[in-house]
Amino acid sequence: MSDNKTPVLEMRKVDKSFGPIDVLHEISLKVNQGEVLCLLGDNGAGKSTLIKTLSGVHQPTRGEMLMDGNPVHFDRPRDAQEMGIATVHQFGGTYPLMSVGRNFFAGNEPTKGVGPFKVFDRQKANRIAVEQVQKMGITRITDGDRLVGGLSGGERQSLAIARAVYFGARVLILDEPTAALGVKQAAHVLRIVNEAKRRGLAVIFITHQVMHAMAVGDHFAVLIRGAIAADFRKGAKSREEIADLMAGGESMADLEANIEGYMETHDGHVPEPAH
Ligand SMILES: Nc1ncnc2c1ncn2[C@@H]1O[C@H](COP(=O)(O)OP(=O)(O)OP(=O)(O)O)[C@@H](O)[C@H]1O
Ligand SMILES: [Mg+2]
Repeated sequence: MSDNKTPVLEMRKVDKSFGPIDVLHEISLKVNQGEVLCLLGDNGAGKSTLIKTLSGVHQPTRGEMLMDGNPVHFDRPRDAQEMGIATVHQFGGTYPLMSVGRNFFAGNEPTKGVGPFKVFDRQKANRIAVEQVQKMGITRITDGDRLVGGLSGGERQSLAIARAVYFGARVLILDEPTAALGVKQAAHVLRIVNEAKRRGLAVIFITHQVMHAMAVGDHFAVLIRGAIAADFRKGAKSREEIADLMAGGESMADLEANIEGYMETHDGHVPEPAH
């Protein structure tokens, strides 16, 4: 990296194996306050494993993790959360049968009354949850009693992000938040990522979509078969170069030309995948 700021979160030569299966190899990366690090890579490259290691779901097999320059060890997700790392995992993370207000405060519910008379303060939870999601630009949510299952994918992502920001997360990790979204909803999530960054959070954003990465990224890391194959700042590579890197270093243009050439000589059939 070109600057000398102490990163909020850093990995130094982290390996992760599951028994005999080596998934991550010597991963070193840094994420700074007020910056978005885009983590790119093909299916199975190790992106989710990497962020699960950063968020305490897995523990590194070797190597070190640091927060504000100090070594940290997370035995469980709660340890990472308490240090201000909020993770929105791939495929969900919200509970469909929970209300917006309940979901927003899951585990941190405001109560009223004292001692044994303490009860969940539903009205307060709903009011704050609706206020916060509206602040993120989701103006269609006006009722905190609405069930999360009835929200769109983009609205759910926004709710999860609003919650992380509200509870003072310093690092926000989003695993493919735009993968299942339409164009408009994806654009909305990208706007919220920029908003989180503007508020000074460090964001790790995982995506397959180069355009989404380019819309928010300050810094990019490409993972190929569990290792960092490229690490560069915004503007250092073109869209085509990034797409080629994600395809495993093969030039997409060459690949397309090869497939077209094959089809011309094989009656329009596409080649069988190589094993
Ligand atoms: N608990 C586990 N035990 C054994 N192998 C695992 C485990 N978790 C992940 N892997 C393996 O690690 C590799 C990387 O998986 P991972 O889910 O991190 O990839 P990914 O980059 O997130 O892929 P995708 O883009 O499809 O989400 C895969 O080969 C996967 O099978
Ligand atoms: Mg994944």
